[in-house]
Amino acid sequence: MGKKVTVVGAGFYGSTTAQRLAEYDVFETVVLTDIIEGKPEGLALDLNQSRSIEGFETKVIGATTGVDGSGYEAIAGSDIVVITAGLPRKPGMSRMDLLEVNAKIVRGVAEQVAKHAPNAIVIVVSNPLDEMTALAQLATQFPKNRVIGQAGMLDTARFTHFVAEELKVPVGSVKTLTLGSHGDTMVPVPSRCTVDGKPLSDLLPAEKIEELVTRTRNGGAEVVALLKTGSAYYAPSAAAARMAKAVAEDSGEVMPVCAWVDGEYGISGVYLGVEAAIGATGAKNIVLTDLSESELAGLKEAAEAVRAKQADVAGL
Ligand code: LAC
Repeated sequence: MGKKVTVVGAGFYGSTTAQRLAEYDVFETVVLTDIIEGKPEGLALDLNQSRSIEGFETKVIGATTGVDGSGYEAIAGSDIVVITAGLPRKPGMSRMDLLEVNAKIVRGVAEQVAKHAPNAIVIVVSNPLDEMTALAQLATQFPKNRVIGQAGMLDTARFTHFVAEELKVPVGSVKTLTLGSHGDTMVPVPSRCTVDGKPLSDLLPAEKIEELVTRTRNGGAEVVALLKTGSAYYAPSAAAARMAKAVAEDSGEVMPVCAWVDGEYGISGVYLGVEAAIGATGAKNIVLTDLSESELAGLKEAAEAVRAKQADVAGL
């Protein structure tokens, strides 16, 4: 039987994720849900009408859900659920300012996912990302490998774009890596960044790399400030959809994601941005990379910052 993927939340992030997933043409069904009456059904109808032009057979189903859990039957038996529900930032806000309001929303959604799609792999994208991923695992009580968050794929893509733009080279020749949190304690890993295989540090002065790192760390806020309402969604949805595809195809592709860390890098018991092999069981295993002393220190600092907030979230 073909795979079924659900995207919860039909805002720009959710609807573009659903579009990308449908256009891959690897799923039998993409379900899009929202609490705004008619919105997911309307978007699903619109997406289905694009099928003959874009050339995909995947069927998109829209379902309005209620706070009482009504409508969630539509997600029954999903193999993968992408949770985008929650509010985006407004200009000047940090992702952490969304903690309380989004915790309530994500907890409610996660409980419905546990009820209707008990075998799903859950990909969380709601902010603040690392905390919402931890909360979704708590609320679903799913094994920790089956709940992962999207952030590193996006932050890495932003870093790669900035490097490619700076050096005027194709993005395809640039490899970058960011670990840590999707926030102030994001840890770009310049030692793992290359252009056509050459270390980035041979091509750019340290101050320039630091400038690009800072722009990466503020990458989401830069878009929010320009848009004025809502946050980024093209690069974020590309990142989330690729993770869902890796799960569906059990590809084992190594991706920077938010995953449960239990001993790796000397860090335990926290959801944190690391590299993991992504497949049918979610995060199959964490993949370790050589870090410089300062990068490792940054990762440990990120772990402690996130750990404190993740403890707060358990009570929300
Ligand atoms: C961003 C939001 C989606 O980084 O977290 O754009």
